[in-house]
Amino acid sequence: MGTYLVTGGCGFIGSHLVESLIRDGHGVRVLDDLSSGRRENLPAAADLLVGDVADAALVRRAIDGVDGCFHLAAIASVERGNLDWLGTHAANLTGAIAVFDAARRSGARGIPVAYASSAAVYGDEAAMPLTEQSPTRPLSAYGADKLGCELHARVAGVVHDVPTAGMRFFNVYGPRQDPKSPYSGVISVFCDRLRSQRPITIFGDGLQTRDFVYVADVVASLRAGMTRLSDGPAVATAVYNVCTGRSTSVVELVATIAGLCGIAPEIEFAPPRAGEIRVSLGSPDRLRAELGIECRTLLADGLSATLDSL
Ligand code: NAD
Ligand code: UD1
Repeated sequence: MGTYLVTGGCGFIGSHLVESLIRDGHGVRVLDDLSSGRRENLPAAADLLVGDVADAALVRRAIDGVDGCFHLAAIASVERGNLDWLGTHAANLTGAIAVFDAARRSGARGIPVAYASSAAVYGDEAAMPLTEQSPTRPLSAYGADKLGCELHARVAGVVHDVPTAGMRFFNVYGPRQDPKSPYSGVISVFCDRLRSQRPITIFGDGLQTRDFVYVADVVASLRAGMTRLSDGPAVATAVYNVCTGRSTSVVELVATIAGLCGIAPEIEFAPPRAGEIRVSLGSPDRLRAELGIECRTLLADGLSATLDSL
């Protein structure tokens, strides 16, 4: 059994990861500033340090003595990045560098770090499916900072012997995802509204598609990334798509959720969002081949679990 630091462990994905680690008998320390995460999301067995991941001295204290670090803390909103460019940059990129820097200072070989990247690094690339070799041309400060995390992870590996795994999450969904902000993920919003028989809004014609990946599969991917780093003989610096390889349109999504709720949905159509990406589909081949992970939760099953949690 090991002890792990999870930054952003009070958030949506982080809290599922913490639960999984604790269930398997690992010790968990969490660093979170509670800006979007909630203390109540954490199991009692996890130790919580409240503070900013961009605070280098605090991160050094938090990482001291752990076997590995999962770095998930970030301001996970594209719109917030556009509005508060410098403020989000501090959390989203300076925070990652603080983690890599602290990881290199601990022990002879750096502490392994599995960190959250994003499909936002690709921007509006037309050729689908997106592979890890696809061009990275982010269209947002958020995506640029995630790409920056990957570049600094490479420096961490090549220059400072810190093994890293960058996990490019696609559209993650599941229990505990907050539906309340105007920028919340579409599944959290639709489940929340349709469950209580309120109308939903579809932006555009609803034929735009996404690769929706269930949070438990994301947790399994993160943990497999960490296992590979911990067991690997040499320093690794890799990135992986975390996706299903299946695409679902927004109208298909509505039909599935409404079917599970047993209702006829009330739908308003609104103009497409500015800068909207039409199609997003990832190739899961590297994740499967190198980490042995298949994101196999069917959308209907993941949606059922999400609805049941409300
Ligand atoms: P979330 O907002 O639920 O979790 C983020 C956590 O980080 C929160 O608990 C928040 O309080 C904490 N945090 C934010 N700024 C911090 C700071 N400066 N210092 C310390 N803690 C801070 O979001 P999530 O969906 O769970 O996202 C987790 C990670 O996955 C993020 O890095 C995000 O960018 C990435 N990601 C998420 C998705 C998705 O679909 N949800 C997709 C791609 C990438
Ligand atoms: C993601 C970001 C978004 C950003 C975009 C830029 C998240 C949760 N969202 O959007 O902030 O602008 O990348 O690339 O990370 N939809 C509806 N009705 C709704 C909500 C959403 O029709 O009430 C549609 C959207 O128009 C979109 C799809 O559902 O086509 C998915 O939306 P969302 O969950 O926000 O994810 P992204 O579009 O990938």
